[in-house]
Amino acid sequence: MYDPADDPARANRPAGGRPSLPIRSEASMTQSAGPDLRLLSERALRASLLSMSKRRGLGRIATRLPLTRAMVERFVAGQTLPAALEAMDRLRRSGLHTTVDVLGESVHSAEAAEEAADRYRRTLEALATAGLDRNVSVKLSQMGLEIDPALCRANVQRVVERAAALGAFVRIDMEDHTTTDATLDLVRAMHRTYAGVGVVIQAALRRSAADVDALIGERIRVRLCKGAYNEPESVAFRERAEVDRSYAELMERLLLRGVYPAIAGHDERLLKRAADIARRNGIAPDRFEFQMLYGVRRDLQERLASDGWTVRVYVPYGSEWYPYFMRRLAERPANIAFVLRSVLQERRPPRS
Ligand code: FDA
Repeated sequence: MYDPADDPARANRPAGGRPSLPIRSEASMTQSAGPDLRLLSERALRASLLSMSKRRGLGRIATRLPLTRAMVERFVAGQTLPAALEAMDRLRRSGLHTTVDVLGESVHSAEAAEEAADRYRRTLEALATAGLDRNVSVKLSQMGLEIDPALCRANVQRVVERAAALGAFVRIDMEDHTTTDATLDLVRAMHRTYAGVGVVIQAALRRSAADVDALIGERIRVRLCKGAYNEPESVAFRERAEVDRSYAELMERLLLRGVYPAIAGHDERLLKRAADIARRNGIAPDRFEFQMLYGVRRDLQERLASDGWTVRVYVPYGSEWYPYFMRRLAERPANIAFVLRSVLQERRPPRS
């Protein structure tokens, strides 16, 4: 599904914005890193990265290594809220909208889940004070779903209440397929009290067509993405072409009948198709938005925005970046070589 060998090298040229690492050119990276990475089976490598993303021990080691932290800056806006606000302000000045992810997932104590909800509340307040987009993306495993669904619900409720008071939007991210029902149930419950709550649907899941139809009927806002988790074939499409076909179909349904859908991803072909559907059907740029990840295809983000489309960047911040970062590597394993090389170059002592 995520074969970097299929990546047109030109599709990865950096936007020339304000990279936090000395990015030479993603295109040159792809060429020179190619032969080494091709020795490994793409799918096996992706599965290993996704499995490593769940290993807390590895995360603890990685977060202490200065080298890895420097690599992470490519995809994470900062370790602190002020750093994230600064990054968002830069994006705003480039004509881009934002949604904030306070990093953290799969918490294992009620205190950690409550603290995560508090961090979201503080983030919402800071966004309002700074005059930035009041829009956050929340993971239920961070709110305590794996500990106790009632605790999770209470935490989300507190975030949503703060969002409602500030006129903010809360998107509930979608995690692996074992959480889909619980996530949809909770979103529906929250949406009944505050309409500014939406959800994510993964095109990779076989059930998603039915979920999209139901959510359209319930007027709940959907972000469509391909799906970032390693799912079994019994519940998910495994071939890239199948996922893309599902994405294209769901995208069309959402654009034609959904409530302000978010078309999330970096697949230029599919995003162009969305723009074509919108133009052909007279769907104005304020009736849906494109969403892309911080640090990924900045060229495309800025191009779509300058063509007049609404583009929102998903901005993660915080110290618990390990699983998020590993998923980004898994989406495009050539990133490993790319970020490593740019960091090593930065650390090389200057020649005298
Ligand atoms: P695809 O993987 O086919 O990549 C298309 C092209 O994009 C690649 O060829 C490459 O050029 C570029 N690209 C993609 N990923 C890259 C990366 N990491 N680094 C560099 N280049 C890359 N998933 C999920 O399961 N639950 C969720 O809640 C969310 N939420 C979410 C929000 C937003 C705003 C986005 C953009 C994505 C998500 N995702 C997600 C992740 C999503 O499911 C998917 O894993 C990624 O978007 C990668 O898929 P693409 O659509 O980019 O296509």
